[in-house]
Amino acid sequence: MEIPRTMTGAPVLETPSASQQPPLPAASAAAAPMIAVRGLTKIIGNQEILRGVDLEVAAGETLVIIGRSGGGKSVLLKHLIGLLLPTGGDIRIDGQSILGLSERRLAPIRKKVGILFQGGALFDSMTVEQNVAFPLREAGERDVKKIRAQVAEALEVVELAGHGHKLPDSISGGMRKRVALARAIITRPRCILYDEPTAGLDPVVTDSIDRLIRRLQKRFGVTSVVVTHDMKSVFDVADKVAYLRQGRVHFHGTTDELRASADPDIHDFIAGRSSGIVADEGEN
Ligand SMILES: Nc1ncnc2c1ncn2[C@@H]1O[C@H](COP(=O)(O)OP(=O)(O)O)[C@@H](O)[C@H]1O
Ligand SMILES: [Mg+2]
Repeated sequence: MEIPRTMTGAPVLETPSASQQPPLPAASAAAAPMIAVRGLTKIIGNQEILRGVDLEVAAGETLVIIGRSGGGKSVLLKHLIGLLLPTGGDIRIDGQSILGLSERRLAPIRKKVGILFQGGALFDSMTVEQNVAFPLREAGERDVKKIRAQVAEALEVVELAGHGHKLPDSISGGMRKRVALARAIITRPRCILYDEPTAGLDPVVTDSIDRLIRRLQKRFGVTSVVVTHDMKSVFDVADKVAYLRQGRVHFHGTTDELRASADPDIHDFIAGRSSGIVADEGEN
């Protein structure tokens, strides 16, 4: 049987008298996390990649995940949309556990969560418009007029109106990223996962992508999880930061708390220093 849990994950205990209970905070229902990960472990082959990840993302919040290459950030994101199954632990999206669900029951949850994969992964033989329309067609939408209108809206959001007829090969890297982003938002997800959305982009284009992430948060109240190596992006887009280290969340807090942290490992990471890392962990 499911043990009911409070928002912090503690089991809800039966008490003899409800009148002895302290009053619930007024905003308790509204504050339920959009994403809740508890004790997530993942072993691939003989490698323990995630060793008990605990993480919460509030609705409308932008969480940035940082950590070394090969540390399991992409693996963690893939768990959040059910692309990988955990070895242990639990994942809740909007209050519902996604583990053990059939593909059919997973589908509506997947619709709530869009993902911008590392690398973007556009179909080269399809136009921008066809790429962006793809998730709608996958979901069974056949109304051509409706598809057109939604594609136009998504392209407008990422400032690519009028580029729909182009092929991915003929546009810049930054534009391709924005096409991938338009594709990720076309089904109007409540939550968007970004896997290194600015990797390989110049600082100006990076800034434009960061603004877009912020705009989606403000305009649609989207909950976001952003994996990045770019420390400027961290401070530009994050409400909260999680530092993934050795398969666990080593730090979780605001950007101010990150800056103020006395942890030497965090200092080195923020400053991009390599001291101690080779001896500590080695390359994965
Ligand atoms: N499908 C897979 N099969 C085997 N190993 C994998 C797979 N996906 C990821 N890994 C391994 O898991 C570790 C974490 O990878 P990843 O999540 O991509 O790291 P990050 O995104 O933090 O750079 C790496 O050692 C990687 O080789
Ligand atoms: Mg990765």
